[in-house]
Amino acid sequence: MSRLANQAKSIKQFLFINGTKIEAPAYAPLYSPYSGEEIAQIAMADRHLTKQAITAAYHACKVIGKMPAYQRAEILERVAALLKERADEAAEIISRESAKPIMFAQAEVARTIETYKFSAEEAKRIHGETIPFDAAAGGAGRIGYTVREPIGVIGAITPFNFPLNLVAHKVGPAVAAGNTIVLKPASQTPLSALFIAEIFAEAGLPAGVLNVVTGPGGTVGDAIVEDERVSMITFTGSPSVGISIRKKAGLKKTTLELGSNSALIIDKSVKIDEIIDRCIMGAFSNQGQVCISLQRVYAHREIYEEFVEKFTKAAKQLKAGDPLDPETYISALIAKGEADRLLEWMEETKASDAQIITGGKLKNGILEPTIITGADRKLKVSCQEAFAPVVVVNQIDSIEEAVEQVNDSRYGLQAGIYTNDIKTALYASQELQVGGVIINDVPTYRVDQMPYGGVKESGTGREGIKYAVEEMTEMKLVVWNQS
Ligand code: SIN
Repeated sequence: MSRLANQAKSIKQFLFINGTKIEAPAYAPLYSPYSGEEIAQIAMADRHLTKQAITAAYHACKVIGKMPAYQRAEILERVAALLKERADEAAEIISRESAKPIMFAQAEVARTIETYKFSAEEAKRIHGETIPFDAAAGGAGRIGYTVREPIGVIGAITPFNFPLNLVAHKVGPAVAAGNTIVLKPASQTPLSALFIAEIFAEAGLPAGVLNVVTGPGGTVGDAIVEDERVSMITFTGSPSVGISIRKKAGLKKTTLELGSNSALIIDKSVKIDEIIDRCIMGAFSNQGQVCISLQRVYAHREIYEEFVEKFTKAAKQLKAGDPLDPETYISALIAKGEADRLLEWMEETKASDAQIITGGKLKNGILEPTIITGADRKLKVSCQEAFAPVVVVNQIDSIEEAVEQVNDSRYGLQAGIYTNDIKTALYASQELQVGGVIINDVPTYRVDQMPYGGVKESGTGREGIKYAVEEMTEMKLVVWNQS
């Protein structure tokens, strides 16, 4: 076992404020979601310590805001290089704290390295544009341009499901754009965040630019969201928390990446054998705890039976167990409360006309890969976000019907369509009410430079480094009067 994972197992963790490890007034044990063993003692910050972190970030704005872009890029390049050196250690930390199977944790680390590399590149191309002032009568004799300036202190609140890469999606562009950060990681996955803070310090990030504050959401999260010195909140998590942040944040800019019950349409002429692996990954990777996890399938009646049969056969073969076992595909849900919620949903499903074709049972915190057919659109498994390895497969007679059903959702993050018909693909891309349409793949598709975000209750704003940098900078206009 690696150096840091061993430490994380036995020693108490600290807050990371102003470049220094700080003790908290209280500590809470962190347990493995899979084995239940205690893996660390986590510092529980109070309001006072959270304010101390915001003060540090506020003062550090002057330092990072004045740092030339090439230097910010160099720091981010060093972070990517150091993370590459410690990739195995990072994957093990993710896997231990979140029960993410190690094969997916390794993939997350590889993506995180890319995210920091993209951030380094993006730091060097933050620019405005010239404005054709003389296009207006009142603009004759003037020239002008815009510049993009750092927004200031950013409060980042991150989820458990990609504890390293979704931190990178907030910290990477924030540093690229010359901002400072107060980061509150998810309560179940603070170790990845503390690990990356250590790497940033080693890479030469000035003290106070990145502060990590662990502790109760109600205390730490609220103190960040309500503080007037914080200019922006970037949050990934549940719609209910996102909506409450929006209400408390006042005039702060807010980027919210919230939930979804993402859907896939499968057209009649599609070769089913060619898409099963992608559907399995889309529905069951990371136990379905992905905002764009495949939760609803709309399969044309001509291929519906074949799809259900082959998808079910493949789902039954997935190996469940210890997340650190390289063969494991599916492991424990993040918390008992989540498992209980899913069991209630299964009871509701069983009491309806729907059929659980496979799965639906919980063993040692692991929910079996679950496929449901005949589910009414009002059942929770259809209309709410499962955030679990649960898929509902529906039969449709036309693409129009499928699009109508996909759009019949509170959410709108990403949707996928498999089709061989270019007109159908174009129709779906125009009609689907989502932030991203993925043609000939599952909705569970993301590379880290693409714009990522949703409509409706899936959130506001976009991530993807260039797009996050836009959110994390203020446009300033400069006008010169030549007369
Ligand atoms: C998410 O769950 O929102 C992130 C998905 C991803 O980055 O692949």
